[in-house]
Amino acid sequence: MESKHIISTLSDIASRCEFELTRLSDEPQIRALQASFLGAKGEIAQLQKLLREIPAEARKEVGAAFNGAKQRITEACAKAIEAKRGLEEERYLHSRLDPTLPGRAPTGVGHLHPLSIVMYDIVDVFVSMGFDVATGPEIETDYYNFAALNFPADHPARDMQDTLFVKEGETLLRTHTSPVQIRTMLRRPLPIQIVAPGAVYRRDDDATHSPMFVQIEGLLVDQGISFADLKGVLETFIHIVFGRDVKLRFRPSFFPFTEPSAEVDIQCISCKGDGCRLCSHTGWIEVLGSGMVDPNVLEGVGVDAERYTGFAFGVGVDRIAMLRYEGISSIRLFYENDPRFLSCFRR
Ligand code: DAH
Repeated sequence: MESKHIISTLSDIASRCEFELTRLSDEPQIRALQASFLGAKGEIAQLQKLLREIPAEARKEVGAAFNGAKQRITEACAKAIEAKRGLEEERYLHSRLDPTLPGRAPTGVGHLHPLSIVMYDIVDVFVSMGFDVATGPEIETDYYNFAALNFPADHPARDMQDTLFVKEGETLLRTHTSPVQIRTMLRRPLPIQIVAPGAVYRRDDDATHSPMFVQIEGLLVDQGISFADLKGVLETFIHIVFGRDVKLRFRPSFFPFTEPSAEVDIQCISCKGDGCRLCSHTGWIEVLGSGMVDPNVLEGVGVDAERYTGFAFGVGVDRIAMLRYEGISSIRLFYENDPRFLSCFRR
């Protein structure tokens, strides 16, 4: 074969390959085609055998034609593969994305935890009565959590609290929000009128007790504050949260930091006082502890107990939440954070 003929045949082969590529639809087919053209048994390899017969002076030109044809085929196949990949991606996207479908309402938007809802609502009630919001640390010392609140070192009242210690004899997880009373009186000028919401911790774990729970502390210290003020504020609070019709009672109690002390019960919202499981068949449910701030506590933080008096209270937020959302069987549901439970409180 003449060298001219070989050169034009090579060009034809490359053109044929380019044409055949236009009819192929996937990558394996393209690769097979490329192999059939360029492989050891392919047309080009067959032609290459004739190279020996070509006169030496023409060999350079013919050799270049071989290289040119191989390059054309290689490039054409690579381009075809790239184009098919782009097409496949587009097809894939189209199979997933139908821009004509109506949108879906987002479901992943967060909302407040039920305990936060109840906590903010309670705080709002007191803020509307002129209370300010104060906070304190969850890791406390014996001084703020016990000693300054008139718990003597070996007083059995400390046993009421089942303390979790962080570092024995040094730091502990606060067992109540009452230490914020002390911190506030040491920091703020009188008169003081605050509520302090927050988490507290005790070594307790059953259907009605969780090792972590939420309280709201209240403290009002001024001149001329009496038990009548305490009653008025707490009655107003109960009526706003549970409705005007709910009956409540102040029951004498004991706390080291208040004297006298009283617990507030409301008539059972489930049985209306007849007695049921919720109220342990007493007809009443305890919702908070309260009392007149003990003069020892006031004097301990440098407040003149002859001139100033005050009242304090502690509300169990979990308890209020369980009563408000009737049918919650265990306080632990509030802390397990099962999304199916939590989503019932979206608002
Ligand atoms: N700190 C008490 C507790 O956790 C609750 C309490 C009772 C707080 C009476 C008070 C109070 O401020 O006056 O059990």
